[in-house]
Amino acid sequence: DNNRFQAIISHCKEYGFIFPSSEIYDGLGAVYDYGQWGSELKKNIKDHWWKSMVQMHENIVGIDAAIFMHPTTWKASGHVDNFSDPMIDNKDSNKRYRVDHLIEAKADELEKEGQQEQSEILLKEMDTLLAANDFDGLKTLIENNKINCSVSNTCNWTDVRQFNLMFSTEFGAVSSEEEENKIYLRPETAQGIFVNFLNVQKTGRMKIPFGIAQIGKAFRNEIVARQFIFRMREFEQMEMQFFIRPGTQKQWYEHWKAERMKWHLGLGIPAEKYRFHDHVKLAHYADAACDIEYDFPIGFKEVEGIHSRTDFDLKNHQEYSKKKLQYFDNDIDPATGKPFGNYIPYVVETSIGVDRTVMMILSEAYEEQDLSTDEKKDSRVVLKFPARFAPIKLAILPLVKKDGLPEIARTIMEDCMGHFRCFYEEKDTIGKRYRRMDAIGTPFCVTVDHQSKEDNTVTIRYRDTMLQERIPIDKIREIVLKAI
Ligand code: GAP
Repeated sequence: DNNRFQAIISHCKEYGFIFPSSEIYDGLGAVYDYGQWGSELKKNIKDHWWKSMVQMHENIVGIDAAIFMHPTTWKASGHVDNFSDPMIDNKDSNKRYRVDHLIEAKADELEKEGQQEQSEILLKEMDTLLAANDFDGLKTLIENNKINCSVSNTCNWTDVRQFNLMFSTEFGAVSSEEEENKIYLRPETAQGIFVNFLNVQKTGRMKIPFGIAQIGKAFRNEIVARQFIFRMREFEQMEMQFFIRPGTQKQWYEHWKAERMKWHLGLGIPAEKYRFHDHVKLAHYADAACDIEYDFPIGFKEVEGIHSRTDFDLKNHQEYSKKKLQYFDNDIDPATGKPFGNYIPYVVETSIGVDRTVMMILSEAYEEQDLSTDEKKDSRVVLKFPARFAPIKLAILPLVKKDGLPEIARTIMEDCMGHFRCFYEEKDTIGKRYRRMDAIGTPFCVTVDHQSKEDNTVTIRYRDTMLQERIPIDKIREIVLKAI
């Protein structure tokens, strides 16, 4: 629900996860900065993806391509001509909407009102009209469903038209309106992989099937951008392009659909929080595509896309660059008894947004708990992150700021800080310090007290159960390492 969504947004700001960008200047639309704990969380998510996609696959390697690319890249990729969304303006409010978002919001509304069937019909109609690029039909659909109409039930819409989502800037010292100086900020990281396909294949001596992975920033001039880090103008993607023999795309598409869903379930998120959504209107490059959707507090929404991109990108880059982007496959084709020979590989892509994954992990972890007893009212907010994603793994807390306790705590800090992120704190009551650690999702707190001086033990407190037990100081590191 929306209250939960708003509560998470406030919590993210209050506890140093995510701030509106340039906030002292009142922020910048749909641009956000990750704070001290948000950046740790995001880094842990990226490391986990990289480990499971690159480190754990012998036939996948990673690259880090530039954000700026030769302008012809975007002609070849089809983004100059096709990377646009149909939009419509409301003449009364002077607001601009992406047509699909406008209609989806109406469908959500209908669903909430219990009109499941109408909601589905509306979405189906929209998909059909979008697939046919029927702009007049879309306008009529919006009008007939009285979407965003004023109280008097009148709507005043412009015609539907296309709007390109790429940001552009100029290169070098030339200041000119000329097209050739126009440089785009990449709207997807994938093209950095396609243009390097042969560089990597040759220098890495990669044999098909193989993958190239990348994590990096992408930029889109989103029209509706009011959904926190869900729809940003500057965001990050984790993409993997898997190069395959033509004709095997169905099998690899199914393979990566299953693999990626397994990855999601491996995050500890229950299966009922996920669903696949097959695309009816395919992106300009795809012959099959689906999303993995997660049940966010604002409903089921896309976190990841899996696309069968055929040879669309490599073929076009070959045509525009006039450089052969082919692969010689010396495996024997059983049909002919001869090598498969030269071809432009097909591609199946997996593409997940870092920020949407952050949002998903946060939504899953956020919990408001009522801890009231008969004697007193009490509550806490806890982020139940899997230990590997927690920004801080261990808080080290001397009970008091004297009697040699800080010194013992410092030795624990020195022993552990080289292995995982620790946090030392001696201010405030121990109860307050525990709650602050709960609020940023720290799975373990150890408290050094006077007994520690006698027998070299500390109290360890577990975030989720709030249970405490005494353990030897020299076991702390091992316990945390095991959990992460
Ligand atoms: N290379 C394929 C591609 O870019 P996409 O479905 O347009 O496909 C992939 O984007 C993923 O990138 C999405 O599933 C989403 O997680 C993320 N993403 C896309 N636009 C975004 C935005 N404006 N803000 C945050 N994440 C976004």
